[in-house]
Amino acid sequence: MRAVVFEEYGDRSVLHVQDRPAPVPGPGQALVLVEASGVNFMDVYQRTGTYQVALPAVLGSEGAGTVLSFAGDVEGFAPGDRVAWTTIPGSHAEQALVPADRLVPVPEGVSTEQAAAAILQGLTAHYLTHDSFAVRPGDAVLVHAAAGGMGQLLTRLVTHLGGRVVATASTPEKRAVAEANGAVAAVPYGDALDAVREFTDGRGVDAVYDGVGKDTFDTSLAALRPRGSLVLFGASSGKVPPFDPLRLMAGSYSLTRPTLAHFIAARHELLERSETLFGWIADGVLDIPITGRYPLDAVADAYAALEGRESTGKLLLIP
Ligand SMILES: NC(=O)c1ccc[n+]([C@@H]2O[C@H](COP(=O)([O-])OP(=O)(O)OC[C@H]3O[C@@H](n4cnc5c(N)ncnc54)[C@H](OP(=O)(O)O)[C@@H]3O)[C@@H](O)[C@H]2O)c1
Repeated sequence: MRAVVFEEYGDRSVLHVQDRPAPVPGPGQALVLVEASGVNFMDVYQRTGTYQVALPAVLGSEGAGTVLSFAGDVEGFAPGDRVAWTTIPGSHAEQALVPADRLVPVPEGVSTEQAAAAILQGLTAHYLTHDSFAVRPGDAVLVHAAAGGMGQLLTRLVTHLGGRVVATASTPEKRAVAEANGAVAAVPYGDALDAVREFTDGRGVDAVYDGVGKDTFDTSLAALRPRGSLVLFGASSGKVPPFDPLRLMAGSYSLTRPTLAHFIAARHELLERSETLFGWIADGVLDIPITGRYPLDAVADAYAALEGRESTGKLLLIP
């Protein structure tokens, strides 16, 4: 089977497609046929060594497809079932091993591609809007990079929950995408504080969802109302430099830096969040904007689009 492999950390040139023996499931594992696998910043952090992994490694952290086989019996699943998974390494391949207790059933009404595109970012958008900062009707929220994969889901969900989104994005085209998803205002990054003041009568936003990191952190803090929440969930522009907690005293702000794995660690939590997410997709509450599909051989092009700020919405590899 073919897989996207890297043997050392580096830029996209370290990625290559390799023929390898099909993996063999051990106890508690499923062998899955990968029909689609999402392109994520997590994979960039792993490839560049920001997140350390055992090398050589197969890239890719999420996907959806069909169960091929198990080692022994696994309760609740059978070969041929449509499934999705997330935060499982080795997903940019024709076949992958997934612990059976990490498999999520894909219901009717959700395509395999939608499931692959939604599972990592959709579950993230779920916990960010329900746990990291639980959005209530009337809340004003700043969402950075609002035309991106995470940004579009957050804008839709915050709006669905009754919140109002002030969005940032780098180009007029991306800002139009943010407004189409429900943002009350979409502005360039440099205009974020003015827009926040205007839409909150000078008060500041209740929360900021910041996946950009280094370049937006100061703006995010400055945009908060007293006792507001800064949810820093990524670093697409780079890591935020060391930070003096005393800065939070300016408004008794809350700062959290969450990661998906802690919000789906228990199987019941993984299943409950997935059921809600797939329900939203089946009911049309959440539209997953798949904007690019790439074969394994074009993996570097997919990551060039993501890292180069060319993409909006979700990119998929189709093994
Ligand atoms: N903590 C978690 O559980 C979790 C889970 C999933 C994703 N994430 C994080 O969420 C963030 C967004 O991920 P995504 O996959 O949805 O990506 P994305 O938002 O589709 O793409 C990144 C966007 O960030 C903006 N950006 C600003 N400065 C940038 C720079 N210097 N280089 C590249 N992009 C820059 C760009 O939008 P503009 O052109 O509009 O500026 C770009 O399109 C990432 O930081 C990722 O790590 C976190």
